[in-house]
Amino acid sequence: MAQATIDRQSKLEQANQALQERAATIGKDHRLGYHIMAPANWINDPNGLVFFKGEYHVFYQHHPYDEHWGPMHWGHAKSADLVHWEHLPIALAPDHEYDKDGCFSGSAVVKDDTLYLIYTGHVWVDRPKDIAIQTQCIAYSKDGVTFTKYEHNPVIENVPSDSTGHFRDPKVWEKNGTFHMVLGNRTKEDVGRVIHYSSSNLIDWKYEGVLAKADEKLGYMWECPDFFTVDGKEVLFFSPQGMKADGDRYQNLYQTGYLVGTYDESSKEFVHGSFEELDKGHDYYAVQTLEDHKGRRIAIGWMDMWESEMPTKEDGWCGAMTLPREVSVNQDQKVIMKPVEELKMLRKDQLSVSADVIDHEVKLSGCQGELLELELVFTLKDITAKEFGVMVRKSTDGTEQTIISVDVEQSKLFIDRDQSGKGVKGIRKTHIDLEQDVCKLHIYLDRSSVEIFANDGEINMTSRIYPKTSSIDVAFYAKNGKVKLETANVWTLKDIWEG
Ligand code: FRU
Repeated sequence: MAQATIDRQSKLEQANQALQERAATIGKDHRLGYHIMAPANWINDPNGLVFFKGEYHVFYQHHPYDEHWGPMHWGHAKSADLVHWEHLPIALAPDHEYDKDGCFSGSAVVKDDTLYLIYTGHVWVDRPKDIAIQTQCIAYSKDGVTFTKYEHNPVIENVPSDSTGHFRDPKVWEKNGTFHMVLGNRTKEDVGRVIHYSSSNLIDWKYEGVLAKADEKLGYMWECPDFFTVDGKEVLFFSPQGMKADGDRYQNLYQTGYLVGTYDESSKEFVHGSFEELDKGHDYYAVQTLEDHKGRRIAIGWMDMWESEMPTKEDGWCGAMTLPREVSVNQDQKVIMKPVEELKMLRKDQLSVSADVIDHEVKLSGCQGELLELELVFTLKDITAKEFGVMVRKSTDGTEQTIISVDVEQSKLFIDRDQSGKGVKGIRKTHIDLEQDVCKLHIYLDRSSVEIFANDGEINMTSRIYPKTSSIDVAFYAKNGKVKLETANVWTLKDIWEG
């Protein structure tokens, strides 16, 4: 027993030490200034989002030994305000028989002043064939930093009779004294679905059945579910694998989206509308949410995509979280996500940019930066331009740039990263409603990311870009006519990781 404890301790110590050593050597060019990243090496999904003892905690899938995915640990960061984050020691390492090949994704819940992490223990049976044993496990902590794995893990060991071994990513919440869990699952017929369990104590779980499942278009496996109520509606977030591209939709390797509907507690039936993607950019996956002490539903996603090119691997790190976004549901049953208001704390200097009528490309002198927030409002009344937008992270010679544009005739919003710098390329586009008085683009730029919130969070587009550090210009433009830029607020933003 004593020996096992020492070994476990040393697994975490080893991982933390390897991480620190690597952190001292990483390349900084594309390190983000105000997003959550690991000190070094690989990260993917956000895990265990929770508000505990006055602070926000975010854990994440992490391989502390390498810039590529590998045996998953849980990295950890916390913040008092959702803006200034601090790294904490790695919380979980794969150190038991039931999780020896990885502590996969999961969630957190507070019970009796104790923080519980509920995660998937992953053990490979046949890695090339993607066959594994996945079970649900628990770890707990009084201080929110050091975790003890429950001695009788796993707490859910067997899959339902019609399930494959793809049985992972528990999201747990409490309602009226009962704990609920949703899990991502793949049936023996290769149908993606979310299944539901309940428990009075987090230890003994009862299978409650299927919450939602794929039709022929919605994929063979659903990962990372999250189920919650917002604005009187029930919302299921999940990340389906195996959907086919359909016009502008589902262009990424895997999707992340939602179903909105009504859940009947007695029949346990979730009646819902159709699947919608949450973010129309290149890099958004495995989103999770938390409800905070202000009653807000806050979502954070992984700001990357499986199998994309990730040029920062050369620099010894890879992967980041998106900005925290406040989730609501509008009259049309669509999910709206806006950057949380605390992000205003990032603002340093407001740059002087005069709003004006634009009829060609206008490079803005004095409006430059790697870390910028832009709040742009274009008037649609009297518009004659066929296309307008903003170019960011532009080089002086104009060969490098990322273009965010509106095609007026097609009513489409674009992000074009064909000239964005290292590695990644491609365009994403989506419908934008131009039947309003104005078109609003709220944009956050960091050293290797762009997050666009259009029309007050109706559209989110998130993409990673890897421009040269010297490509910092901004230009507005209009083609084949004029558009009036009514408001142009631009701020330089703080680097929260600097000193
Ligand atoms: C989603 C995912 C999860 C899994 C984790 C492993 O990106 O595949 O389903 O738990 O990543 O790192």
